[in-house]
Amino acid sequence: MKVAVVVGTRPEIIKMSPVIRALSSRDIPYYVLHTGQHYSYNMDRLFFEELELPQPDYKLDVGERFRGHGAQTGEMMKGMEEVFKKDRPDVVLVQGDTNTVLAGAITASKLHIKVGHVEAGLRSNDRSMPEEINRILADHVSDYLFAPTQGSRENLLKEGIPDERIYITGNTVVDAVYQNLEIAKKREDVLERYGMKEREYALITAHRQENVDDRERLEKIVGILNSLPIPALFPMHPRTANRMKEFGLSIDNPLVKVIEPIGYLEFLVLISKARLILTDSGGIQEESNILHVPCLTLRDNTERPETVEAGSNIIVGVDPEKVIENIEEILGNKEKEIKMRSAAIAFGSGDSAKKIVEYIIGR
Ligand code: UD1
Ligand code: UDP
Repeated sequence: MKVAVVVGTRPEIIKMSPVIRALSSRDIPYYVLHTGQHYSYNMDRLFFEELELPQPDYKLDVGERFRGHGAQTGEMMKGMEEVFKKDRPDVVLVQGDTNTVLAGAITASKLHIKVGHVEAGLRSNDRSMPEEINRILADHVSDYLFAPTQGSRENLLKEGIPDERIYITGNTVVDAVYQNLEIAKKREDVLERYGMKEREYALITAHRQENVDDRERLEKIVGILNSLPIPALFPMHPRTANRMKEFGLSIDNPLVKVIEPIGYLEFLVLISKARLILTDSGGIQEESNILHVPCLTLRDNTERPETVEAGSNIIVGVDPEKVIENIEEILGNKEKEIKMRSAAIAFGSGDSAKKIVEYIIGR
């Protein structure tokens, strides 16, 4: 039994880290293939260092050289096919919904290698999102579908995927949070370093293609930040930084501090001590639920409806008036804030990686 673990972007490195640890601790032969979709130090290597992951055995360096979905995905497939033929695994594991996932799943399935999709069955029901297309296609060529929740299992069943391929595992993000939060908390000076005070700031991220590549939507997000009534920290994704420059937009609110993307340990501390989160990230909707911090999602839909049902997350869109109204309601209504903070954790108890690895070796 040999496993190939495919990663390419920041969230995949974070959410695959518990799986890599579980494979290592059971002495299961595996290798890590990195497509290089993310390549800047603080979107990539920083996470390998912080999470003490082994260096990738194969690196394709696609992200910096190939832009555009077709070119990027095609080049990844070409590179992965060479690796999988030379060093043939029994199972290829992919995680999430990026172009790396699509490329890994299709390449492996064409070589008749079993595909395991970690975080299978999420659906926003919005096919204009590149991630939705990637998820659907990856799920339909996968042999093992590791669905985080009952809801994601049902999404798969509705599309005709046989139940015997689906295994509910929880989400490995819970493992990642629990494995790293204690280490992270030892970094006592994080808030001081960024000039924030516990429970007095908002933590912001925004990077979705449909939000930041669309001038009008990005202008609205900037409008929200320019009227934000509390101090805020915004580690800005490189995609967003590029678009801000291209569209000539700037954040003029002195309460909002824009910084480069930061490491996972600092980011976990910043989530756990925030008053609220404003984000369009998938992973951060989950982490705010796990760490009991109210989340307002700057999108029109979510593939994580469990966070909304649990009560930790509200889908607010990007209309400045509506979003500020929602923020003020949380800031001014203790009862509502406490209710959001006490929402149940929706993604399992932190043993997802163990379940995934045990399932694979049992095949
Ligand atoms: C990708 C995923 C998205 C995921 C996100 C995580 C797809 C279709 N999208 O989006 O689902 O939420 O990763 O962050 O796979 N860039 C850098 N340095 C980097 C990485 C990116 O400067 O290390 C810049 C480049 O200009 C690049 C742009 O960001 O062209 C977008 O990167 P890309 O990987 O294409 O998409 P993301 O927006 O990061
Ligand atoms: N994250 C981080 N540093 C940052 C911003 C985010 O470590 O500056 C982490 C965050 O905790 C989460 C993951 O990156 O685990 C989310 O990645 P992203 O939002 O890029 O992708 P998505 O989850 O939307 O696919």
